[in-house]
Amino acid sequence: MDSAKFLAGQFEKYLQENLPEGKPDNLYAPIRYILNLGGKRTRPLLCILSTEAAGAQPEEAFQLAYALEVFHNFSLVHDDIMDQATMRRGQSTVHMKWNSPTAILAGDNMLVYCYSLLMDLRHPKKQEILDLFNRVAREVCEGQQMDMDFASNDNVKISEYMEMIRLKTAVLLGCCSAGGALLANSDKERTALYYQFAENLGIAFQLMDDYLDTFGDSKKTGKKQGGDIAEGKKTWLYLRAQESGLNMKQIYSEENVETRIQNATELYAKYHLDKELLKLAREYHDTSLQCLEELRNLGENTESLKILMDSLISRSH
Ligand code: IPE
Ligand code: IPE
Ligand code: MG
Ligand code: MG
Ligand code: MG
Repeated sequence: MDSAKFLAGQFEKYLQENLPEGKPDNLYAPIRYILNLGGKRTRPLLCILSTEAAGAQPEEAFQLAYALEVFHNFSLVHDDIMDQATMRRGQSTVHMKWNSPTAILAGDNMLVYCYSLLMDLRHPKKQEILDLFNRVAREVCEGQQMDMDFASNDNVKISEYMEMIRLKTAVLLGCCSAGGALLANSDKERTALYYQFAENLGIAFQLMDDYLDTFGDSKKTGKKQGGDIAEGKKTWLYLRAQESGLNMKQIYSEENVETRIQNATELYAKYHLDKELLKLAREYHDTSLQCLEELRNLGENTESLKILMDSLISRSH
């Protein structure tokens, strides 16, 4: 078994042993439910493998990695309310299985839990890690608000969309990797490179997420196929189609949701926007790879991070 797989298994055990408990059960059961639904665990792995690459024991990163995975899951619980999503990781979303007030409170509780894990870190660079995380956590909210605002804005530019996905998704991946590097006492220059590597990876990751939302297999993604179209999201596909002169407003005005999903999906495919989107994701992936190469040239042990990257660009979920 390779080292990344072994670490993933060890981290999973750590997470299981540290699942929050408490009363009332209707608050803590949904928290354990979402954390137990699995997911790819991309963020904690990114953190752990960055610590390892930067020369410290990977296990030293488990607590930070766990805090960041809790934050990610908190953001998903609230995201699913905002996006009115019914399915997550192949199961009911928290607000569907319980209700929205419970999902809001479970999310709030997870954010507090995340901070208590961070405050319990014992490390000389703790303050730096906290400063980084605080900035990133605010930016995730900014990106999520932009995503919401775009739904009712007909003049969104692709550059604005790129900034929105950088904020809602990519900065957290940057934080995972740079945070992991800080645990290994990396200097400013190296930490910035880890951040840049993972931020570019995160942009590729969100572009792939948009791609899979429309063109993926819902059995694999565990989400509704066409959920973004159903919600009227201004994804890259929508904005690129609009930029090409297609009347997307008309396509999105179709009231029957399933018909709308089918029409938009067919249109994107007809104009090869699916392939164009994959190409763009590949470009960000390549930029990310260049950063990783730079790190390797500085003597960092980037092999496992490279394997993680490869699994993400070819992902189907
Ligand atoms: C989903 O993240 C939300 C995005 C930022 C795209 P993931 O695709 O990492 O979700 P899980 O944790 O693997 O389920
Ligand atoms: C979610 O983006 C980003 C955050 C949770 C911060 P999406 O809304 O595209 O994620 P999915 O597709 O629901 O996983
Ligand atoms: Mg969303
Ligand atoms: Mg969503
Ligand atoms: Mg999505």
